Amino acid sequence: MKNEKKRNLRSREWFDTPELYGWTRQAALQGLGLDPGVYRDRPLIGICNTWSELTHCNAHLRTLAQRVKEGVWQAGGVPFEFPVISLGEFNMRPTAMLFRNLLSMDVEECIRANPLDGVVLLGGCDKTTPGLLMGAVSADLPAILVTGGPQLTAHWRGQELGSCTDCRRFEAELRAGRIGQEDWLDLQGAMIRSPGHCMTMGTASTLATLAEALGLALPGNAAYPAADSRRTRLAHRAGRRIVDLAERDLKPSRLLSAASFDNAIHTLHAIGGSTNAIVHLLAVAGRAGIPLSLKRFDELSRTTPVLLDLKPAGRFLMEDFAYAGGAAALLNEIAPLLDLDQPTVTGKSLGENCQGARNDNPEVIRPLDRPLEPAGGLAVLYGSLAPDGCIIKHSAAAPGLLRHEGRAIVFDDHHELLEGIDDPDLEVGPGDVLVLRGAGPLGGPGMPEWGLLPIPRKLLRSGVRDMVRISDARISGTARGTVVVHVCPESEAGGPLAAVRTGDPIRLDVPARRLDLLVEPREIKRRLAGFRRRVRPESRGYRRLYFERVLQADQGCDFDFLR
Ligand code: FES
Repeated sequence: MKNEKKRNLRSREWFDTPELYGWTRQAALQGLGLDPGVYRDRPLIGICNTWSELTHCNAHLRTLAQRVKEGVWQAGGVPFEFPVISLGEFNMRPTAMLFRNLLSMDVEECIRANPLDGVVLLGGCDKTTPGLLMGAVSADLPAILVTGGPQLTAHWRGQELGSCTDCRRFEAELRAGRIGQEDWLDLQGAMIRSPGHCMTMGTASTLATLAEALGLALPGNAAYPAADSRRTRLAHRAGRRIVDLAERDLKPSRLLSAASFDNAIHTLHAIGGSTNAIVHLLAVAGRAGIPLSLKRFDELSRTTPVLLDLKPAGRFLMEDFAYAGGAAALLNEIAPLLDLDQPTVTGKSLGENCQGARNDNPEVIRPLDRPLEPAGGLAVLYGSLAPDGCIIKHSAAAPGLLRHEGRAIVFDDHHELLEGIDDPDLEVGPGDVLVLRGAGPLGGPGMPEWGLLPIPRKLLRSGVRDMVRISDARISGTARGTVVVHVCPESEAGGPLAAVRTGDPIRLDVPARRLDLLVEPREIKRRLAGFRRRVRPESRGYRRLYFERVLQADQGCDFDFLR
């Protein structure tokens, strides 16, 4: 990596101009209390903040921003905190995913339009992290991601619980009549006990970890809890570090490569990470102009053992991961699989970042020679029901269902599912395959996390806890079950999912990587010839843009013109 200092800071272009604006911009800075001697010829650093009280996972980010600022000042830069839209997973309807691309555009244009030489990105909740990364990669200024950190482990009636894996588990118990309303409300008050994002290996934790593997976050970013002082010190370090990056112009295009994405994919499999990370990595790679396909995820899954024993698939939580050594210890364990020469925001290589990192709990982070599973927990399936691919997190599925043939029970949309799933007259058995369509990028719209179709109440009461479920939706990274998601093309785009009828046989064969509708191809074609779109595209605003330009999940659900 070159050691040369950047000679001309980008921000100078804003001030060294003879037009009036060069003068007014400096007047504005002085209006903020900055003397020319303070801001001239120093890197101007943006702190791009997805803070919002509507995004509870990110509600503490202004405190972290303060520490970033102090670090920037200390290293000789000048910090400017600025807001971008925030995407709260719990509150936004129909789904925060609908707005991820909007956040990425906000980030890109705010960075590009302002006199900045580098940026620290503050995010945490599921869609904020990929939105920040996509925007920053497109803007291509030096950038460091600092995530807000996971919540502390929840404790309830002697059990350690993780949001929202255990919310879903207890919801099933409630529906089965095994716990009562009083228990359910008591649990509600115990589940989120500190600032931070969900503390299972859900999407937020997965992306915070992958950012380290990609070289875009400092060591320690993945796992320190939001409430841990090491998180605030990490923010301070990021503030100091970005100044050097800005001076050297060490930007994402100089850090990211096909090899760094391979590192991230190995890491995704080794941690048993969220299926959503596949969509987001495809989108970030698309922004970086690096070819990446779904097939690569499956190829690397077959050669990457699962080492991390975290919920939703395993036993532990993010706090345990932090105390075991965090991402550095994990990366050190899988070092033989990685390209350790890849550069990172530390100014060192990935190998230097993780070399010698201690693994203080080999039950949480298994050693490479004693993995939890010999191969990765995510698989990409193809077949007549998913010609462009679909995903299953088989590490979180029932082993007995990974090869399964059953009768389809079809729901045309989420509303129909909610109306019909608990109907006592629904003819359904434990061997049937529940199918939801109309839930993809166009159908949802926004590809909501509806893929974990509820088990029909009458089956729950007879003890059934898992069935094969198939959809063009996503699932939360905190979910578990035999759930096939991201079916491409989605039904609303005229994919074969639109042709399935209740009673059709479907075969799932995860070892063979197949998902097939066992109906004559000619009949599938005949049914699709009569396909009509169900969702009426919006006529104005961002949603119109979304309907016109969003790509399918196998291309990261980005807009075609942003790749
Ligand atoms: Fe924000 Fe789970 S709700 S990460």
